[in-house]
Amino acid sequence: MEPFRIKMVEPLPSLDRSQRAKALRAADYNLFRLESDQVIIDLFTDSGTSAMSAEQWAALMRGDEAYAGAVSFRRFEQVLRELTGHPYVLPTHQGRAAERILFSSLLRPGQISVSNTHFDTTRANVELAGGRAVDLPYTEGDFQGDLDVAALKDLLNRSCGQVACVVVTVTNNAGGGQPVSMANLKAVRSVCTEAGVPLFLDAARFAENAYLIIQREPGYAAYSPREVAEKMFALADGCVASLKKDGIANMGGALTLRDDVLAARCKELLIATEGFPTYGGLAGRDLEALAQGLLEVTDPAYLAHRAETASWFARQLEKAGLPCVQPAGCHAVYVDARRLLPHIPPEQFPAHALACELYLEAGVRTFEVGTLSFGRVADDGAELPADKELLRLALPRRVYTRSHLAYVAAAAGIVASRAERVPGYRIVEAPKALRHFTARLAPI
Ligand code: F0G
Repeated sequence: MEPFRIKMVEPLPSLDRSQRAKALRAADYNLFRLESDQVIIDLFTDSGTSAMSAEQWAALMRGDEAYAGAVSFRRFEQVLRELTGHPYVLPTHQGRAAERILFSSLLRPGQISVSNTHFDTTRANVELAGGRAVDLPYTEGDFQGDLDVAALKDLLNRSCGQVACVVVTVTNNAGGGQPVSMANLKAVRSVCTEAGVPLFLDAARFAENAYLIIQREPGYAAYSPREVAEKMFALADGCVASLKKDGIANMGGALTLRDDVLAARCKELLIATEGFPTYGGLAGRDLEALAQGLLEVTDPAYLAHRAETASWFARQLEKAGLPCVQPAGCHAVYVDARRLLPHIPPEQFPAHALACELYLEAGVRTFEVGTLSFGRVADDGAELPADKELLRLALPRRVYTRSHLAYVAAAAGIVASRAERVPGYRIVEAPKALRHFTARLAPI
């Protein structure tokens, strides 16, 4: 059962099928273009969509909105220092601001950032800083989020000192929400130390990764999630973190560092582009809510419930005929649209087609992780398909109950039963970069 009770509620919007069809048409078949009151169950993202606790709401009232020296920053800094062991804590308005500040302070043009998988904003910020983002995922076994250590060694040998940093994303969101093992983090650490390259965590879902290590990796069952999280951070030279996920708040991010010189450079950029170092891009009350959220998120009962909900939801979807990425992680369940809709080729965006169909069927909003978001367009305009065609059903923290998810699984089952009649989509109009945010599409 949920290890919490509910104190404040919001009504769900209600739209019938013809209203949903009209809304989807008006949104040009792009779920980013829907208004949220047109969505009945919103599994678009787990980012910034979580429910705060009574303690977090209480903490908001303590928010110190001083421009400089805000007491709320002291609390935020202390919580993050104790968790990470990193002495420098820079608050940012969200994860991508921390990424921009880190990469523009660290990378020289042409240098390489290596990751298990760079999240899309992370890749964009590496490239904006003039760098090159190289993904080296190792997708086998219980830890499909791991970084391929052999490939990393090989790249370091071949790249003549051009690798400027390694970023391990925990959990690996773009790779199906899969965890990174402690053994892999240790191996990456030792390769980085040998090569003199700094190791950073993209720590957006650090607590969920810690919990999955306890569940799946031999030797960690006796540790608490907090202890495992501390061990993960101890291996890194710093982290970029979107705190909209495991900070369990609606906005916020952080950059933590060990290196004095790098921290001073980042702080200059922070002041110029985000805000004074004792608030970054955040209000004092946000810092308070985050400090409290970061303590709550490693609660074993909360994490157990979250992981069990994700596995249960994946089982319900499988029973309803939807192939899912297994084992499920924590923050989302991923449906394999290529297997469900083999008649739709990648250039007609099968996972996007499934997302549209699920919205039409039940007003459920989900997120395409496939050729529309991650494919590339060749110079001659041809679509270069993504590796996978997945539909992500993200789970906002402490927001939906199992009966909401049972409703989604039932609707998904109806869609699966008429899978062969689901149409593919074509792009009517789209910008070149990050096209999925604004593209206009139409069914074929
Ligand atoms: N890193 C990871 C692993 C992420 O999942 C995200 C955001 C970011 C960085 C960027 O953080 O949004 O605070 O600037 N992921 C969201 C998602 C958008 O839906 O998965 P941000």
